Amino acid sequence: MTDEPKQEMVVTPWEVKGDIDYDKLIEQFGVSRMTPEIEDKIAEHAGYKHLQLRRGVYLSHRDTEWWIKEYEKGNKVGLYTGRGPSGNVHLGHLVPWFFCAYLQKAFGADMYFQMTDDEKFLHRADLSLDEAVSYAYENALDVIACGMAPGKTHIFSDTEDIEHLYKIALRVAKKVTFSTAKAVFGLTDSDNIGKIWYPAMQAMTCFLESDREGRNIPCLIPAAIDQDPYWRVTRDIAQKLGYYKPAQIHAKFLPGLAEGGKMSASQPETAIFTTDPPKKAGKKVMRAFTGGRPTVEEQRDLGGRPEICNVYAYFYFLFEDDDKALVERETSCKNGEILCGHCKKELAKRVESFLTDFQEKREAAREVLDEYLIKPVE
Ligand code: TRP
Repeated sequence: MTDEPKQEMVVTPWEVKGDIDYDKLIEQFGVSRMTPEIEDKIAEHAGYKHLQLRRGVYLSHRDTEWWIKEYEKGNKVGLYTGRGPSGNVHLGHLVPWFFCAYLQKAFGADMYFQMTDDEKFLHRADLSLDEAVSYAYENALDVIACGMAPGKTHIFSDTEDIEHLYKIALRVAKKVTFSTAKAVFGLTDSDNIGKIWYPAMQAMTCFLESDREGRNIPCLIPAAIDQDPYWRVTRDIAQKLGYYKPAQIHAKFLPGLAEGGKMSASQPETAIFTTDPPKKAGKKVMRAFTGGRPTVEEQRDLGGRPEICNVYAYFYFLFEDDDKALVERETSCKNGEILCGHCKKELAKRVESFLTDFQEKREAAREVLDEYLIKPVE
């Protein structure tokens, strides 16, 4: 008997597909595995353990314990994350952003949130610059709706806010050679030259807070692991520029509604967008891939397979905060006591009420957007 063929894993900053093997990624990228000590420390400072920490959503990191220690010494610490604004935001994007809001509160940190309209314009043949910029502002509403703190959140667009960014980006660019950029990002001679420059923009934000405040502030980047190549380059040059190396904490990818891979905007039927009408999102859930058996009899006999079920994954990552209820669901599924239709209906209901609430917050964010956008240093 042979196992089902695995789909080859591809994880780059521009493409994530196939069966994700996190152990292999940790090894390939040379990052450290998350530890219970770090999870507990974060929980201690936050006052509670976030669902994502309890469920192992953050499975690797670099220097997070150092970042926490700096905070414990009484030093200011900062956060940085970002988004390539090429379309609407989906639930997969929200997972790390909710966590950022939690970290921001726990550590009283400023959050620098980069909207890389330049990156998306350079990398996507089908996206105009105006479109990318307008998505940057639309997506900022989602960031705000995740609960980021006003006054401590500095959202910026690479193109619209370049006056705050260009000098520090130049200092970074001067330290990175063409051959490094080629090797790390797999660029070739036929790539446009904007792609060679762009990594300086993504790296620059690691030092932006330090630069603006005129002192060294440790920076932690919560992100999915596919962004790692940028941080490898940044870490190599940080000290040459007189800054700390940025720390990272890496989230797993939220699966899409179809089998395998991560939630991806390029497959709209399998992604739930924050702008989807709730009923439409509910219908998508009803068509999701599950770990169910082909027939009811088999399901009752053999039980379902939560370990491969995307509906279960959504409860796990986002929609079931109660650990006991989650275990009960898993057990009754494995015992064949509940069928997929049941879980899908329950998830659809939760997704619908989540979206109704989120969309209200998102609309309210339009009124206060300006409070969250980067301002000149005082
Ligand atoms: N390159 C990221 C993307 O395409 C956007 C981004 C910029 C980012 N800076 C970041 C993501 C820092 C995570 C952390 O989505």
